[in-house]
Amino acid sequence: MATITVEDRNGERKTLTIPANSKQNLMESLKEAGYRILATCGGIALCATCLIEVLQGAEQLPGPTGAELDMLDILPHTASGDRLSCQLWNNQIPDGLTIRLKGDEHS
Ligand code: FES
Repeated sequence: MATITVEDRNGERKTLTIPANSKQNLMESLKEAGYRILATCGGIALCATCLIEVLQGAEQLPGPTGAELDMLDILPHTASGDRLSCQLWNNQIPDGLTIRLKGDEHS
């Protein structure tokens, strides 16, 4: 279990507890917590609507997969801490991670 900080698109920060579940990804946990993430592709690294910027703790995450790198490469404006939240399994999330939501949201 990890407690992370999530900054929404309005700059508001809240803490969120993530269960150490290897069958659920961060995108799914963010959606469960009520964040409006489009996730058009359903979590297979093809839409980037689950994009986040890792503000703190990036060095404790596993590196991006090939599929994630391919998607990040074609995005027009990425920052060095950008990741696809659907490609991060909950059991890989370190305590104290701080992220900012960047992807498209549904209405
Ligand atoms: S949900 Fe589509 S890339 Fe993550």
